[in-house]
Amino acid sequence: MLSYRHGFHAGNFADVLKHLVQIAILQYLKKKATPFYYHDTHAGSGSYNVSHPYMQKNREYLGGITRIWESKPVSPLLKEYLALVRQLNPTGELLCYPGSPEIAVRLLRHMDRAWFGEKHTTDFRILSTHYRKQPGVHCEMMDAWQGVKAKLPPKEHRGLILIDPSYELESDYRQLTRALEDALQRFALGTYAIWYPVIDERTTDKLLRRFAALPVRDNLHIHLDLGKEKSEPGMHACGMFIINPPFTLADTMKQTLPELLSLLADNKKTGRFLIEKLKVENG
Ligand SMILES: C[S@@+](CC[C@H](N)C(=O)[O-])C[C@H]1O[C@@H](n2cnc3c(N)ncnc32)[C@H](O)[C@@H]1O
Repeated sequence: MLSYRHGFHAGNFADVLKHLVQIAILQYLKKKATPFYYHDTHAGSGSYNVSHPYMQKNREYLGGITRIWESKPVSPLLKEYLALVRQLNPTGELLCYPGSPEIAVRLLRHMDRAWFGEKHTTDFRILSTHYRKQPGVHCEMMDAWQGVKAKLPPKEHRGLILIDPSYELESDYRQLTRALEDALQRFALGTYAIWYPVIDERTTDKLLRRFAALPVRDNLHIHLDLGKEKSEPGMHACGMFIINPPFTLADTMKQTLPELLSLLADNKKTGRFLIEKLKVENG
């Protein structure tokens, strides 16, 4: 039984980073006139009400979307992200935060197709009810790793697979790399964007070594560390590993992350970000 509910974390700094990368990749895919496929392995419930007791429990959004909402960003990607969140909040008050499915639905064109998978019964009910009439969108209550096997390769031969596990179970890490190996055999040219939390550094290093060993032509690793004291509770850093990134993504993130860090990091001196290609280590 899964206990993770994304509502407790919606809009936090990790969501902001993930959704910025998601938007940048979807916008790149839209540059070509041919249709693409969007696959959300761990979709959650689609969007989140800020007043919900889950979001109010730890109010993680105050360290994430609220800081962007209350600023006037200058980098184009942050502006676009904020404009999208504003579309959902037309009164000017932050009442609702979009999850990755809602972001996708707002960016996809009529010819593009989306698949949202979610395993939690309650979140799946909310998700599927909300998007049941949405053209081009299909929701399934399916295990993420099974979904990757069942749905890839897509008939469009191009697209984004967003992989956003809750990392509740130790086995999530192993299953993730196994699923990636399998997915790459089915759909080698797809763009895969994988989010990961930094819970302890050894686990992160191991995961990054596994990513680096994957048989891919190109990758991009993005890491954001808010620079908090290690003794402070909660997650302080997270990252994204992107397989077959758009060639524009590294530059877009170079333009965006300094501003993002200055908005989100409490301690500007110790906060840091990385934008790099992971290389397989010899030996
Ligand atoms: C981090 S949240 C997803 C948030 C969403 N991608 C977003 O950005 O708005 C992870 C979700 O995965 C679901 N989940 C956990 N394990 C799963 C599995 N094996 N298969 C499918 N969904 C799973 C959880 O119920 C949770 O809703």
